Amino acid sequence: MTSILQGKSILRTDTLTDEELDVILATADRFEKALKAGRRLDNMAGQVMAAMFFEPSTRTRLSFEAAMHRLGGDVITIADPKTSSAAKGESMADAVRVIEGYADVIVMRHPRKGSAKEAADAVAVPVINGGDGAGQHPTQALLDTFTIKKEQGTLDGLTVSLAGDLKNGRTVHSLVYLLARFDTRLVFVSPSQLRMPAHITDDLQAKGVEITETEDLSKAMQESDVVYMTRIQKERFEDPEEYERLKGAYVLDVAMVEQAKSDITIMHPLPRVNEIKTDVDGYAGAAYFRQAHNGVPVRMALLALVTGRE
Ligand code: NCD
Repeated sequence: MTSILQGKSILRTDTLTDEELDVILATADRFEKALKAGRRLDNMAGQVMAAMFFEPSTRTRLSFEAAMHRLGGDVITIADPKTSSAAKGESMADAVRVIEGYADVIVMRHPRKGSAKEAADAVAVPVINGGDGAGQHPTQALLDTFTIKKEQGTLDGLTVSLAGDLKNGRTVHSLVYLLARFDTRLVFVSPSQLRMPAHITDDLQAKGVEITETEDLSKAMQESDVVYMTRIQKERFEDPEEYERLKGAYVLDVAMVEQAKSDITIMHPLPRVNEIKTDVDGYAGAAYFRQAHNGVPVRMALLALVTGRE
């Protein structure tokens, strides 16, 4: 039986079908159980993953590499974009056409929005978008969805607050399209300068999603089952002073947690700069490190599904 995702690129979340989402979550669940049981997997034996990262990354890159190793596959990587041919002016299309001859699947992160799609259009092997500028970050959104389901036991009937830099944060741009498939109420919490792009809000409202926009994080948290904090995306600001003015916009602390629902789940794609005080870390609902760990089974599922090795 071939996987419904075999040969497909993972570029954004709004084009995934509900069935594809179900299969990804179920496969990740299966791999998570296998990892916990200490089973040795060889689904990807003989396969090579190329990691092309043209922007800083720790979690995305290492969890993809760990995922590939956990499945018995091999990894080739551009250690430092400054030492790759991109620094010599090579086009994206040429670069991936070459890598296509070396690998069965390409994972890419790039500062330009639309770059992963450009790469996918140039090659026959699946391309997985590990973040394209301020565009999308579908694999993070999938692991976020997986995490919410684990932490809350369901994806239905939840109120989810997304807070911080909703304008530039690619993780939230991808996550909202997954949450929109469930009976979820979304609260967008941001300074007025960093609101969710109107095309996304309009799009979601047209799908019938209930959305509230506010600048008040404490109040949003009181009615939320999940709060998803994001970093103010310094690298996307043209004016450094604007960043300085906005960087401390939201700092989640214990006092805010104490006023929230007792079973609130607190998430962050990480890295955090100062968005969540470290004394929140000991709280049972502080899920951000578990969330980061969930990157491995979810990325195992994606690698195996797009190569037909699940
Ligand atoms: C996010 C990213 O790169 O967009 N990080 C990640 O992948 N875990 C979030 C961020 O950098 O703020």
